[in-house]
Amino acid sequence: MKRILIVQGHPDSSQQHFCHALAQSYAEAAMQAGHQADVINAADSGVTFLRSRAEWDSSLPAYAGEAQQAIAAADHIVFIYPLWLGSMPALLKAWLEQVFREGFAFSTGKRGWHPRLKGKSARVIVTMGMPAVAYKWFFLAHSLRSFERNILKFCGIRPVRWSVFGMVEDTNSNRRRKYLAETARNGAAAC
Ligand SMILES: Cc1cc2nc3c(=O)[nH]c(=O)nc-3n(C[C@H](O)[C@H](O)[C@H](O)COP(=O)(O)O)c2cc1C
Repeated sequence: MKRILIVQGHPDSSQQHFCHALAQSYAEAAMQAGHQADVINAADSGVTFLRSRAEWDSSLPAYAGEAQQAIAAADHIVFIYPLWLGSMPALLKAWLEQVFREGFAFSTGKRGWHPRLKGKSARVIVTMGMPAVAYKWFFLAHSLRSFERNILKFCGIRPVRWSVFGMVEDTNSNRRRKYLAETARNGAAAC
């Protein structure tokens, strides 16, 4: 049994988007398979922008503290977000800056940095308008690689798996069903 934390990074929680359907699909399949699955909706956290190093070193907002506890308790973390202007939405980045603080996610000392989230794995699920192949091979999945390398692996989280779901705006095709089924399979396997 794995403890799974799903971080829903879609900035709009006033209505159901495909990202929410993916989260539901993953969580339901995971729980049916006997895993524990909790969801944090970054959009409902009241995310504030971090503005200085001084702020980073102090004043942890309550939602960030709660998210840190949820991450500390999780074996596996699933991030879900739509690609906006080639990267994750600013709201999710702001959430990460607040939550993945020095001292919690990593620490630094005379011998460089020390990752503090070892023993956890992650999956990043990204939806987009363009074909997945264009994001991976023309844009080289730059923002996803940056998230994986500069944030998740930097903090010791590995392996980091990807689900790159392209052309999601075409609601008339079977594509969305296929993506939901693939996500359910990953949820059941907690990977
Ligand atoms: C502000 C904004 C920026 C977007 N930028 C991109 C982009 O850079 N590349 C892309 O392929 N799709 C882009 N899209 C399309 C979204 O990725 C797509 O609508 C989203 O993945 C659909 O997921 P949802 O139904 O959960 O919102 C953008 C959409 C919006 C609203």
